[in-house]
Amino acid sequence: MSNYHIKNLEEYFQVYRKSVRNPELFWEEIAEEHFMWRKKWDKVLQWDFSKPEVKWFNGGKLNITENCIDRHLHTRGDKTAILFEPNTPNEGAQHITYKQLHERVCRFANVLKEQGVNKGDRVCIYLPMIPELAISVLACARIGAIHSVVFAGFSAQALATRINDSDCKMVITSDGSYRGAKTIDLKGIVDDALEHCSCVDTVLVAKRIQSDVNMKEGRDHWLQPLLDEAYIDFPPEVMDAEDPLFILYTSGSTGQPKGMVHSTAGYMIYSAYTFKNVFQYKEEDVYWCTADIGWITGHSYIVYGPLANGATTVMFEGVPSYPDFGRFWEIVEKHKITQFYTAPTAIRALAKEGVSHLEKYDLSSLKVLGTVGEPINEEAWHWYDDNVGKKKAPIVDTWWQTETGGIMITPIPFATPTKPTYATLPFPGIQPALMDGNGNEINGNQVDGRLCVKFPWPSMARTIWGNHQRYKDTYFSAFEKMYFTGDGALRDEVGYYRITGRVDDVIIVSGHNLGTAPIEDAINEHPAVAESAIVGFPHDIKGNALYGYVTLKDTGEGRNHDNLRKEINQIITEQIGPIAKLDTIQFTNGLPKTRSGKIMRRILRKIAHKDADNLGDISTLLNPEVVQDIKDNAM
Ligand code: WTA
Repeated sequence: MSNYHIKNLEEYFQVYRKSVRNPELFWEEIAEEHFMWRKKWDKVLQWDFSKPEVKWFNGGKLNITENCIDRHLHTRGDKTAILFEPNTPNEGAQHITYKQLHERVCRFANVLKEQGVNKGDRVCIYLPMIPELAISVLACARIGAIHSVVFAGFSAQALATRINDSDCKMVITSDGSYRGAKTIDLKGIVDDALEHCSCVDTVLVAKRIQSDVNMKEGRDHWLQPLLDEAYIDFPPEVMDAEDPLFILYTSGSTGQPKGMVHSTAGYMIYSAYTFKNVFQYKEEDVYWCTADIGWITGHSYIVYGPLANGATTVMFEGVPSYPDFGRFWEIVEKHKITQFYTAPTAIRALAKEGVSHLEKYDLSSLKVLGTVGEPINEEAWHWYDDNVGKKKAPIVDTWWQTETGGIMITPIPFATPTKPTYATLPFPGIQPALMDGNGNEINGNQVDGRLCVKFPWPSMARTIWGNHQRYKDTYFSAFEKMYFTGDGALRDEVGYYRITGRVDDVIIVSGHNLGTAPIEDAINEHPAVAESAIVGFPHDIKGNALYGYVTLKDTGEGRNHDNLRKEINQIITEQIGPIAKLDTIQFTNGLPKTRSGKIMRRILRKIAHKDADNLGDISTLLNPEVVQDIKDNAM
């Protein structure tokens, strides 16, 4: 039996047991049989969660692009690797074959080299969902440069923070981007960001919207002419298994975003292996993940996982609502999509528009449906199952994180019976644990606790760029010898997991992780604001929305509160991006605090959830009197 392709439940249990009984042997077989190495590793796994240090396949040598592209050239050279579907349907799709991808990545790699980028250098990629995004990611990997993709919805300030944190020497961007009926001036955002970055000496600019942009002499270059001149081949740089492949920033509950560092070999093997099984990918399938490559889902399940399996992966530039809410289904019909992977927030937004948009299209090609990024509510799950999959396409509710690199808890379609709102069972190699408040593991079923992982897996992030201590403090300190996820979960009577949500101050809005601290910092910069606290509250479409409690420096009397609200959201948009805007802003006379001065978010959360009748004992607060006032004026 092959461990690589799991086809039924019995095989899953066999493979899972093997992966736990002898993890080294298990991963070694997969690494050996399914990937291309320049040199074999010395040791499969070295680990110590107390440091924390994890190394997989140490001493092994490889290049991930050789695995994702070159090795398919003989067997699948003319197969479509990337199927690009543009923002506007009339523009027509582009099919990029493996051969063409090889040539384009090689040309780009040569351009990077000519522009002085070397192995280990950091390159920031700030691009819309156009082929150049995937190609620049792969070109970095080809030369051994570390890519740091920043989602092109982040503001100039957020971009500058990320560029500086990892000391990027180059930025790759475009003149602008399309987003439905709108265009966005990406180059202008990069120019603003670079006012605050001294590390960047080169900017490569792809042409997308043909807008007039400023090109700074000596720094900025149009990409296409350089590519046209570049040579069509580039020998892949030979990398160590543990060399960093990329940095990807994610929000923390406090402080600056965390630059999660992923390694080369472990990440490749895990993203490829999970892709194959979670989507049951077959050679003729056309797989579509609607995420943006600016997030981990796009890294692992648009670029690396699918390409490592020689798959056809769709890149969609647009939005689900343009030209109308039938766009996703039009694309499914047009390209005969077989696997469709999206976020619960998109499902809820589409469900709200009714089924008439779906009925116009033939969705019978769909075999597997997936969700990721946040808990899916029962109603959305059934809508997806009934109307999109017509009850024939299993839904894989995949739980994982930027930090985990790949899917951790998920059904395997056609093997694991699904259960709405449950991510079900751990993927082979993953050993979850539920922990109680005293740091003990909770055994047995029908229990809930904090979700941890007790054994390393190949694609776990190795560190936070430039701050290993923070990596240790955030993930390996809450529970001894465990990776702590920050999520709560329950385990049902048969051992299925259901993720109940974050147990820290990260709030997931429309599938995007937002830390409360950076948003509060932004609000507090408004000259009229004394202090603020953000909590999440349930939202029909976004899953959660943000509720801000803001105390003004003076009573705020005589000030126009609506204008203040607009100004506060404007600051948030500038410093973080429009995704972090507040839905509700309540001005308060004070915030409830403990005697040590800590804001009692639990109380604020209950008020925002309209559940203020049972706030528990508030007499120990420093200022219990503000609570009544906040309740009375809740919005
Ligand atoms: C949440 C996205 C419930 C969770 C790949 C996690 C989920 C955070 C699910 C990571 C799911 C992700 N069910 N919650 N299927 N998938 N989450 O880093 O809280 O953007 O910790 O990675 O999203 O979000 P991130």
